[in-house]
Amino acid sequence: VTDEAHLRKQLLDALTANGSLRTEPWKRAAERVPRHEFLRGGFFRRVEGAVPGAWAPVLEGDANWLGACYEDESLVTQIAGTILPADIRGQIMRAPTSSSTLPSLVLRMLEDLRVEQDSEVLEIGTGTGYSTALLCARLDEEHVTSIEYDETVASRARTALARQDLFPVIVTGDGLLGHAPSAPYDRVIATCGVRTVPTAWIEQTRPGGLILTTIGGWLDSSELARLTVHDDGTASGRLLSGEVSFMLARPHMPPPLGLLPDMNEGKEREAVIGSDVLTDWTTRFVVQLAAPGAQRLTMERDGHQEDVLIDVESGSWAAIYEDAGRWIVRQDGPEALWDGVEEQLGRWHAAGTPALEEFTVSVTPEGQTISW
Ligand SMILES: C[S@@+](CC[C@H](N)C(=O)[O-])C[C@H]1O[C@@H](n2cnc3c(N)ncnc32)[C@H](O)[C@@H]1O
Repeated sequence: VTDEAHLRKQLLDALTANGSLRTEPWKRAAERVPRHEFLRGGFFRRVEGAVPGAWAPVLEGDANWLGACYEDESLVTQIAGTILPADIRGQIMRAPTSSSTLPSLVLRMLEDLRVEQDSEVLEIGTGTGYSTALLCARLDEEHVTSIEYDETVASRARTALARQDLFPVIVTGDGLLGHAPSAPYDRVIATCGVRTVPTAWIEQTRPGGLILTTIGGWLDSSELARLTVHDDGTASGRLLSGEVSFMLARPHMPPPLGLLPDMNEGKEREAVIGSDVLTDWTTRFVVQLAAPGAQRLTMERDGHQEDVLIDVESGSWAAIYEDAGRWIVRQDGPEALWDGVEEQLGRWHAAGTPALEEFTVSVTPEGQTISW
């Protein structure tokens, strides 16, 4: 047994034991796909202790390269939209833009996708091509279409897949538009997050088909959702569980903050709810629904820290801080953001703070509604 085969078996045994890998067909598919083949370009490892986050390259042949390929970890493969591991000596402090998702999540999602033998599948976010290869191993490449936004990432995935003798359709483009030429699909799976489920995915899916995607937003909370497409062109379903997060689809990334408004102005009142609630994942999800255009930052003012929510498009903002044991909010702009947040959290509390698994998602031509 080679090192690699041994490491792969160990990983798959662990994924079976923790319930990510649940069914025989997916076990057989996972056994056939060597993850390291999709990481030959290396990856970035987080440098511990660095603020706000520094990354150092690990290249093929480095001592811990092969071992890491078979750890249950996400491995960042591109940073800041262009930078690959081989481009860097030392460290880089920019945001990741492509990665190989941790295998437990990849396989859990593939299981949750409930494919059948002849399902036609559209994947959004090819990345390294590892998950695409798993789909091909399970379904056969002619049933698999995968879209990657980034040209370099897409071409590297094509090469890695070809080395495994796999030739699915890999489209370079914006996956939020789907890929009409291979439609209709039975299943759509996204390995990047979205703020709202694109109508193109619904239009390109057969009635009865499933869409599995992470729905997230700009307050850094997200959850996996599985929607069924209906005859009338709408889709609905539930959030699943696991606090699943993915990098947002590039067109859904927040706009730059730009020049901030003068935050000394604004109406001040005592807050009913303090911004300390934003440490909780589910609470952030609920807040995100109330203020979908808001981004969060922390600012120093008059010697205290303020949590600021700001919607750069509308110009609305709210600054929340603690003063002698009381929470104060100061806000301005067309919408009183924190009023909306408190109202929404009030309704969620009145309903008994339901967990995300109890939330339902519905997408119609009028838009997306998430409720509990
Ligand atoms: C987490 S990675 C994908 C992981 C991949 N499935 C794997 O197993 O290696 C997310 C990918 O989505 C891509 N992406 C972001 N926005 C996209 C979009 N609008 N359409 C298609 N791909 C997108 C990113 O470039 C990135 O490569």
